[in-house]
Amino acid sequence: MAVALIVAAGSGERLGAGRPKAFAELAGRPLVQWSIDALRAAQGIERIVLALPRDRSVLRGITDRPAPPPQVSAVEGGATRSESVRRALAAAGEGDPVLVHDAARPLVSAELAEQVIAALERDREADAAIAAVPVTDTVKRVDGAGAVSETLERSELWAVQTPQVFRRAALERALDVPAEQLARATDDAWLIERSGGRVIVVPASGENLKVTTPFDLRVAELLLEERARRAR
Ligand code: CTP
Ligand code: MG
Repeated sequence: MAVALIVAAGSGERLGAGRPKAFAELAGRPLVQWSIDALRAAQGIERIVLALPRDRSVLRGITDRPAPPPQVSAVEGGATRSESVRRALAAAGEGDPVLVHDAARPLVSAELAEQVIAALERDREADAAIAAVPVTDTVKRVDGAGAVSETLERSELWAVQTPQVFRRAALERALDVPAEQLARATDDAWLIERSGGRVIVVPASGENLKVTTPFDLRVAELLLEERARRAR
């Protein structure tokens, strides 16, 4: 059975909600709660570990609330995203593979989590499977003076998301690197790629958006309202 880590220890500076992003209100609940509920509903996850900011008082009622399995527990996150992953993994007990998810993607669905887990299970050669969408914008490399130096071949480009699912031994090895390297990683799959590991993509939807700015929060809210209307 898989163990799921939700990293939620960032400060959310670009969102500027006056509190850590994980606790910003989204459609009436803390942002992190949406991811917890989605992963709780996914088949094949036995435990969920959250990496949270130091002040966890806001969390009472999330981890303390009696609920059916999977069990949800929390640890204090680290100074960087990867350090938060490492701390959550250290507290995760048994469980393989390891699913890593950013709390900043509250629209994740149980189905997507299940699909990424299944993709890794199918490809015995792969060390990791990651949710991703083909890029629709044309992407250019721009130098320090603001001039374009290169246009990348769009058909080969994918924008990656979370969930990312790893064979546990591969993730543990990948995270066992100096702090400077951990700090450079904007996702964990990169740590696997750079040591020659095989990472496969699982087609996802743009709806699994990342909340970075107030604009993203507004879009997420509208999408959740629409979801609620459809469910009625
Ligand atoms: N994260 C974490 N620990 C950190 C930094 C980030 O657990 N030290 C988590 C965030 O909580 C988020 C995910 O990693 O769920 C992606 O990070 P990002 O979107 O950059 O969130 P923040 O770092 O909180 O936002 P900002 O960079 O605007 O401050
Ligand atoms: Mg950040």
